[in-house]
Amino acid sequence: MSSISDLRKLSNIISNAVDRIEDICAAKGLEFPSLDKSFSRGDEAAREIPEVYEATNLITSAAGQLAAMARSPAMMMIDVSFKCFQGTALKIAWEADAAEYLRAHGPSHVSDIAKHRDISANKLGRILRLLATTSYVFREVSPDIFANNRLSSLLDSGSSLDNLRSNRNAKYNGLPAYLDLNLEFGAQAAKQLLQTLFDPSTAHSLNFEESALLASYGTKGSLFDYIKRPENERHEKRFDAATASLTAISSFDWARLAKGSIVVDVGGGKGSQSLILARNFPHLCLVIQERDVVIPDAEKYWVEEGMADVVESGRAKLQVHDFFTPQPVKDAAVFYVRGVLLDWPDEYCTTILRNLHDAATPETQLVLQDIITFHACPDPAAEGYKEGLLSVPPEPILANWGVANSYPYYLDMALLNAFHTRSRTVAEYTELLRKGGWKVEDLRHGSLPLAVANQTIIAVPI
Ligand SMILES: C[S@@+](CC[C@H](N)C(=O)[O-])C[C@H]1O[C@@H](n2cnc3c(N)ncnc32)[C@H](O)[C@@H]1O
Repeated sequence: MSSISDLRKLSNIISNAVDRIEDICAAKGLEFPSLDKSFSRGDEAAREIPEVYEATNLITSAAGQLAAMARSPAMMMIDVSFKCFQGTALKIAWEADAAEYLRAHGPSHVSDIAKHRDISANKLGRILRLLATTSYVFREVSPDIFANNRLSSLLDSGSSLDNLRSNRNAKYNGLPAYLDLNLEFGAQAAKQLLQTLFDPSTAHSLNFEESALLASYGTKGSLFDYIKRPENERHEKRFDAATASLTAISSFDWARLAKGSIVVDVGGGKGSQSLILARNFPHLCLVIQERDVVIPDAEKYWVEEGMADVVESGRAKLQVHDFFTPQPVKDAAVFYVRGVLLDWPDEYCTTILRNLHDAATPETQLVLQDIITFHACPDPAAEGYKEGLLSVPPEPILANWGVANSYPYYLDMALLNAFHTRSRTVAEYTELLRKGGWKVEDLRHGSLPLAVANQTIIAVPI
C-alpha cells in the first residue's frame, strides 16, 4: 500500500471524526471547548459524551501517526531525543507558579511572572515559549506576553500567590500534584534507570528495594516506607493528593449492587475512592483496609471530608489489614483493588489474590483497577473487547491506538522507575488472576473526564 493512501485514510479518519463531533455538538446545543480558554469542568460537557470522546481518540491517534508519516524523519527523531526538556520545562513552569500567576493577573509580561519567584525573565520566557510551541501548553499572545490556556490552567493548584509564597505544600491539590509527582520522580531517577537496567547486579532484579528511584534517593525499603518518613512530609502530601486526583469509579456499575452490599477497598489508602462511593451510593457499606501506619491518617481524612458520621455509623469501616495475610471479610460483594497489583511482582500479587479468593463467596466480584497495556502490533488477547481504547481501531491506526493511548505506557515506565514493577497485558492479567483463583469476566475502560483514569477488570472466583 502506498504511503499516500495511508495519509489519505488517516486524514479521512480525522475529517469524519470532526464531522461527528460537529453534528453531536449541534444536536445537543454544546460548544466544543476552545484550547485558548482556561479549563473548566462545565466546558467539558461535549467531550464527556462517549461518542465525542471516541471521536477525539480517533483524531489524536490519526493526527499523531499522520505527523510521524508526513514529517522529515530526522526532525521527528531529533524531537524525540529532546523530549526530556518538555518535562524539565513543565516542572520549571510548575515551580514558577506561572499558571497561578496568570490566573490571578491575566495575560502578563514574562518579567512580571518571573518576579513572583525571583527567577530570570529571559530564561522563563524561553521555557514558556518551548511549552507553547512543542506541546501547546500556555499561549504567547504577543511577544513575551503569556496567557493560560486550557492545558496550562491544569497546572493551577487553585492556591493564592500569597499562600504559595509561604507554603509550597499548597501546590499539592488535585491534578497539579499528580503532574508534579510524575515530573519529579521521572527526573530524579532518569540517569539511575539507565544504570539499573545495565548493571549486572540489578538488570534482572524484580526487587522493589532496587528500583532506580529508591537507588537515586539512596534508600532501602519500599517507596511507601520512604514517603512516610517525617522528613518526607512533602512527598507524602503530594502522593496522597496525586492518588486522590485520579478518580475512576464509574467503570463498574456500583448502583446495581444490592442494598447493604459490602465493598472491601483492599489497600485503599486513606479511602479516597471509597469516600466517593460512600457519597454517591448510600446503599453500600465500605471497608477500607490499609497498613497500620495509614489508618490514623485515613481517620483524619474522613473527618476533614465531612464524612465522620459515615464512619461512626459503621457504614464505612477503616480497618488495619495486611493484604499478604488471610482476608477477614468473608461476605464481600466486591473486593475493590485499585492501583495495588501494579506495585508488586507476580508472586506477591498471587498471594494477595489468593487471600481474596479464599474469603470470597461464589457471588463475590473482584473489581481490579490497574493499568493494562496492549502490544503495539495486533494482539490476539485484545480481540473481543469493543470499548473505546480497548477495542481494535480502524486501519491504519496503530493496533494499540498509539498516542491517544499513551498513558498506560508512560505509567509502565513510572512503575519500572519507582517500584521495579510493570503494567501487564490482557494475557498477563488473565494468567495472574487464574493463578490467584479468579477468572476475567469483563474489561472496561476507565472513566472520563480527564482520561487519566485506570482501566477496570471484573473477575469472579474460579
Ligand atoms: C498506589 S496506593 C493505592 C491506594 C488506593 N487503592 C487508591 O487507589 O487510591 C497503594 C496502597 O497500598 C498500600 N499497601 C502497601 N502495602 C500494603 C499491605 N501489605 N497491606 C495493605 N495495604 C498495603 C499502601 O499503603 C498504599 O496506600
